Amino acid sequence: MAKSRTNFVCQNCGAVSQKWQGKCESCSEWNAMTEEAGSAGIGAQAIVGVRKGRVFALEGLSAVTEQPPRVEVGVPELDRVTGGGFVPGSVLLMAGEPGIGKSTLLIQTCARLADSGHRVVYISGEEAVAQVRLRAQRLGLANAAVELAAETSVEDVIATLTQGRPPALVVIDSIQTMWAEKVESTPGTVTQVRASAQALIRYAKTTGSTVILVGHVTKDGQVAGPRVVEHMVDAVLSFEGEGGHHFRILRALKNRFGPTDEIGVFEMTGLGLAEVANPSAMFLAGRDASAPGAAVLASMEGARPVLVEVQALVAPTALGTPRRSVVGWDPARLSMILAVLEAHGGLKLGQHDVYLNIAGGLRVSEPAADLAAAAALVSSLTGALLPRTAVFFGEIGLSGSVRPVVHANLRMKEAAKLGFHSAVGPVAGRDEGETPPLRVAPCDHVSQLIADIAASAAQGRGPREVKRA
Ligand code: TYD
Ligand code: MG
Repeated sequence: MAKSRTNFVCQNCGAVSQKWQGKCESCSEWNAMTEEAGSAGIGAQAIVGVRKGRVFALEGLSAVTEQPPRVEVGVPELDRVTGGGFVPGSVLLMAGEPGIGKSTLLIQTCARLADSGHRVVYISGEEAVAQVRLRAQRLGLANAAVELAAETSVEDVIATLTQGRPPALVVIDSIQTMWAEKVESTPGTVTQVRASAQALIRYAKTTGSTVILVGHVTKDGQVAGPRVVEHMVDAVLSFEGEGGHHFRILRALKNRFGPTDEIGVFEMTGLGLAEVANPSAMFLAGRDASAPGAAVLASMEGARPVLVEVQALVAPTALGTPRRSVVGWDPARLSMILAVLEAHGGLKLGQHDVYLNIAGGLRVSEPAADLAAAAALVSSLTGALLPRTAVFFGEIGLSGSVRPVVHANLRMKEAAKLGFHSAVGPVAGRDEGETPPLRVAPCDHVSQLIADIAASAAQGRGPREVKRA
């Protein structure tokens, strides 16, 4: 029999070490090593007793495989992210920060599925049954036939689930509270989370139930657990939102049965999470187009175009070192755009404070936002209004050139749908063969952007709006 001994397992990345270390050698995280008994951590379940292998048949790639059947939930934003509904026997990890709304979304999902006649079980390891019931009542879901329990023992959960007809959906809220008896670690440790997830995955594969594991993660990755099960599950859905704002985005980070570039948009209301079918309209609500310093960006969130307002404030500084402050965008990117505007646009920004904000609380990470940010900055500095009905997109290079970005036509179609008339962006790289749904004002260099904004200020109208030849 293998000798049982203690290991030190990194609670951040799952790396195993024989001795305690202040800093994990694998991921450089400090104070993450915890003593765990027996075989734990990555690669721990090594082959113990060697048996003679069984020979199995190998297959080719060309065989016809049927599409997996799906259980549609009836929440279009959720069905869109999963790729058309839950695949029976699949296991999903729903990751998100504490308090973001995972339990709310899942109890609503459970109720919707139960209403369409499926058996649905919701196991809460964090809240008492009364609490879950109270929330459901507040959400107007008291009559849904969801079966509830507050349990944390995986053995008990699986024993209960195997009674009666297998549920279509089982929600485990959360995987960090589950513990398997055969593992000698406290709940929430890497070993317990992994063992519990393994048992629940085995249950899903053998019965055909879909299992959703809730996993708490924090922005800095402080909370242990979910990261070590990411590779074991079929799909990882991340539920995100900015503190203080009501909207939430559900994103598929991994999906063995569907796309990974779809997003679902929800809004947290007094009555739970409401779907937002038209996110652009939500992000542009309350827009004040009569003040300088605001440009509308036609951005892409995954495969979905979303319009947001980029706001800039450039004002003379009272300090020795001017302030640069960004919300919702990369500060390094702002520094780069400011440097390019100075070097290739002839603007003097060294004596100005610069603030940049993506309105509505969205985080934009794609380079297509460069042109909109530059337009907002120039508009704020010069006091010139940008045209009300123009959207901006394009990546700015260090030479000051504006480079094309993907999905130009998708972005313009979304803008046209919301009543915009023109798009300012690079000429090259437009989807060939398709007529742009908007007038295109070509902009291939930052100096041209600055000249156009200055000219429009002088003439009291927007930048050149040229119909494409
Ligand atoms: P919850 O689903 O408990 O978050 P998680 O499971 O991810 O930790 O959501 C908790 C937050 O949502 C809480 O701050 C209150 C808010 N909330 C609403 O605004 N409206 C509602 O109808 C509900 C149920 C919650
Ligand atoms: Mg919760």
